[in-house]
Amino acid sequence: MCGIFAYLNYRIPKTRRHILETLIKGLQRLEYRGYDSAGVAIDAPSKGAHENGKQICVVKQQGKVEVLAEKLRGMAEFDFNDEMLCHVGIAHTRWATHGVPNEVNSHPQRSDPENEFVVVHNGIVTNYKALKKLLEGKGFKFESETDTEVIPKMLKYLHQQPDAKDISFSTLVERVVKELEGAFAIVVKSVHFPGEVVATKRGSPLLIGVACSGELSTDIIPIRYCKSISEGDHSKVVPQNNPLGSLHPVDVECGVEYYFASDASAIVEHTRRVIFVEDDDVAAVSGGHLSLHRVCRGPGQDCRALQTLEMELQQIVKGSYNSYMQKEIFEQPDSVLNTMRGRLKFESNIVMLGGLKDHVKVIKRCRRLILIGCGTSYHAALATRQVLEELSELPVMVELASDFLDRHTPVFRDDVCFFISQSGETADTLMALHFCKENGALTVGVTNTVGSSISRVTECGIHINAGPEIGVASTKAYTSQVVALVMFALFMSEDRISMTQRRKEIFKGLEELPDQIRKVLQIDSDVKELAGEMYKQLSLLIMGRGYNYATCLEGALKIKEITYMHSEGILSGELKHGPLALIDDKMPVIMIIPRDGTYTKCHNALKQVTARRGLPVVLCEENDKETISLAFKALLLPSTVDCLQGILAVIPLQLLSLHIANLRNMDVDCPRNLAKSVTVE
Ligand code: G6P
Repeated sequence: MCGIFAYLNYRIPKTRRHILETLIKGLQRLEYRGYDSAGVAIDAPSKGAHENGKQICVVKQQGKVEVLAEKLRGMAEFDFNDEMLCHVGIAHTRWATHGVPNEVNSHPQRSDPENEFVVVHNGIVTNYKALKKLLEGKGFKFESETDTEVIPKMLKYLHQQPDAKDISFSTLVERVVKELEGAFAIVVKSVHFPGEVVATKRGSPLLIGVACSGELSTDIIPIRYCKSISEGDHSKVVPQNNPLGSLHPVDVECGVEYYFASDASAIVEHTRRVIFVEDDDVAAVSGGHLSLHRVCRGPGQDCRALQTLEMELQQIVKGSYNSYMQKEIFEQPDSVLNTMRGRLKFESNIVMLGGLKDHVKVIKRCRRLILIGCGTSYHAALATRQVLEELSELPVMVELASDFLDRHTPVFRDDVCFFISQSGETADTLMALHFCKENGALTVGVTNTVGSSISRVTECGIHINAGPEIGVASTKAYTSQVVALVMFALFMSEDRISMTQRRKEIFKGLEELPDQIRKVLQIDSDVKELAGEMYKQLSLLIMGRGYNYATCLEGALKIKEITYMHSEGILSGELKHGPLALIDDKMPVIMIIPRDGTYTKCHNALKQVTARRGLPVVLCEENDKETISLAFKALLLPSTVDCLQGILAVIPLQLLSLHIANLRNMDVDCPRNLAKSVTVE
């Protein structure tokens, strides 16, 4: 939630137009993280407002990034062709938490009307009220309702102190960050430190891309521990532009560009060389040198290595599709294949999960599995609970992260806890992870984002390899999460002779899955037709049971998220205990009826619905004539093994939500009020 982007060019002359275009493009790549409002801060043409002749210009706008771009294009006071040899621009796209989405609450937030310090921020400063009170007591006047505004004001306040005279920009930021509580990533720019930028994070993601016109000094940046700060003597801090231990071009004639972003997708088109900033690292660029500092020695390594992004640009552009969501739905034959690639040997029914190999013994000896997630990721856990119980013969708890935390759920050393998260950054899931770790359980991440907080904090994990997912409504990540957890169930049962036959069935199902998904995608036009009949309705019920209860919840979530139509996933076993009261010939109902162990019971529900004049649209297997004859309408699916049928059944529901949203003229990739990655509790 919220996207941060910053761009610094050093000794590479760039026009104001290029700088603004780079910032806007960066924000557009991050727009899935929030799109209530957006803003940029760049150097304004010198007006001599400050002693160094620099002034910062902040432009903000409510609405999507394109509206901001439009506003910037119309700024008559900008000379767009003006070239700058060294410049820092910072930018932000917001998902509002503190304060309504309007211009004044947008970022960058500033220290004062002169914009001496400007900050973009992702996350929440939980102690902002106390800091605000303190600063108001010192005469600072707040203009926004945001928690963020305390940061630039605190920077200005500390910068005014007599002992701050000669300290570096990064030291100043370190001092401020020490006062902040909560989870955040920030990037700061100041008139007092022209050509410099400082960024730091705690909890929220941040990475830095580096592009150099020549050779770089190093691949590994050592961390500088500012001991003198923790000892209270700030004056002895190593000057920040000291080239020792920093990354910079070897040849002084060479220029360098740095890109700071919440996510790799905003960087990959500029450079593949990145550094993942870790919690409490303070990254500073001064004189073209990037250095990393920490206030005190913490856990983790004493250096950060430049890494190469494996992401392809083509993975993050829409191509010929109308929306990212549509592209991601249609990518599923390949994304599930990528989840399985190199991990399943179909000839010998062997599963290899490299990310778990160092912890196999502990995992196989555990007493209980706990699967934790939010939203769609929670549904993936629910969808695989039954096969996990069956193949592991262990009790399996499935938990919504927020509720799990609210209950202070007992967790023990012999539990293995799974954290399922597409982004790997969801705050509730991350908090639950810390809680389970503190209680001594082994923690396993199931994420789609290499280098994400959850993948770093867990002891081991399974990367789902679905490729970047940009549409806010999760689609391909869900099917890949289900596949990953089914593979884990196979892994837990590899020594059980009694399960050989069952395992074979599942292996076969997985092998055929990509082609079967391709087949399901061919019913897109039938689904579109159905959407045409439904899009004006107020509500839609989706019913099923067993393996497909999760499919119903996930289908209903898709409908809610992007069409804003009310939709409810109902366990058919509960139908007669209440929801049946809703049924008549006007209420749209979809029923999922696979030929698994729940078939007869599903038919009971179907009859209960038709007996109340309900007109159910049924999702069933293509050769199931009986169900087809009882349904008002039927969408037909290929048959697979029971525990994978839900993957095939969810796809028509994903398509249905997409078509209904399109017919209602909704922005499917950026549904109102939502964000893809929710990094606040
Ligand atoms: C947000 C998104 C949902 C997603 C949930 C969990 O609410 O809008 O689509 O399912 O977060 O996200 P995660 O990244 O942890 O899977």
